[in-house]
Amino acid sequence: MDQLELIRALPKAELHVHIEGTFEPELMFEIAQRNQIAIPYQSVEEVKQAYNFHNLQSFLDIYYAGANVLIHEQDFYDLAWAYFEKCAEDNVVHTEMFFDPQTHTDRGIAFETVINGLQRACDDAKAKLGITSHLIMCFLRHLSEEAAFETLEQALPFKDQIIGVGLDSSEMGHPPAKFERVFAKAREQGFLIVAHAGEEGPAEYVWEALDLLKVNRIDHGVRSEEDPKLMQRLIAEKMPLTVCPLSNLKLCVVNDMAEHNIRRLLQQGVHVTVNSDDPSYFGGYMNDNFIAIAQALDLSNEELKQLAINSFEASFISAEEKQKWKLQIENLH
Ligand code: HPA
Ligand code: ZN
Repeated sequence: MDQLELIRALPKAELHVHIEGTFEPELMFEIAQRNQIAIPYQSVEEVKQAYNFHNLQSFLDIYYAGANVLIHEQDFYDLAWAYFEKCAEDNVVHTEMFFDPQTHTDRGIAFETVINGLQRACDDAKAKLGITSHLIMCFLRHLSEEAAFETLEQALPFKDQIIGVGLDSSEMGHPPAKFERVFAKAREQGFLIVAHAGEEGPAEYVWEALDLLKVNRIDHGVRSEEDPKLMQRLIAEKMPLTVCPLSNLKLCVVNDMAEHNIRRLLQQGVHVTVNSDDPSYFGGYMNDNFIAIAQALDLSNEELKQLAINSFEASFISAEEKQKWKLQIENLH
């Protein structure tokens, strides 16, 4: 099998995707029109021209503006359904999606509206596409600890529909330590824990995510390589990193894909996985990310298979399901 065929044939789990970051300009225009909300662009082309980010913050400004047109349950359904169709094209058979409740509740949209739309899309994806999924809600770290506590409170009636809690938005100046107490409460309530750390922020933030938030996975974490002791810890604990290559390139975390460290991390025994982060904004979904690193870093077919196996092992599915997908991947030749 040639490499492109292998990438397409591999079953994959996606563990780092913000549902608001899958919002394609075409759908944004359609929903904006339907909801009679003005957006500062005349055409899809104009939207795409605005996507010339140079760091995380310049992306986040546009990403939050785009989410403003989402009002009704059906809007959240349509958003998630469009993403599931991309999953089907890329053979992503399982996904653990982030959503940012505060981006919506701060605009007066009920928590319930958001989760009901997303959940209905998840149910349809299972029934119609055979794709399984979990929802992870993220706190916006540029907002206060108090606001995160309020959001956690709002989520409790929907606890059975939310597998975990994460931390995203502007990393610099908002260390995991700021949310230590909220995450302690989330753990008490039975949520699994993830956090963005070591994307733009230093290795120190990864230590905090491990020691203070007690994460089950680190989102991004590519700057961990700067700290040999941290690398030893990640390897010893088999701590997954959900790496997002096209995102890192677009936000200038790396200057060239040939300089990306995902292959070095893999070779050193770090449990890395491949993910799309905000695919509508960063130029590609799951397979585009696989293709980009396979080409730039000259990955072998065995390495591609290992990355796909890692994605299931790092996921929150059952041990039986993990074993089933691992066998399928091993049997691809
Ligand atoms: N980093 C932090 N916050 C985010 C990201 C990201 O890559 N995508 C959406 N929110
Ligand atoms: Zn992210």
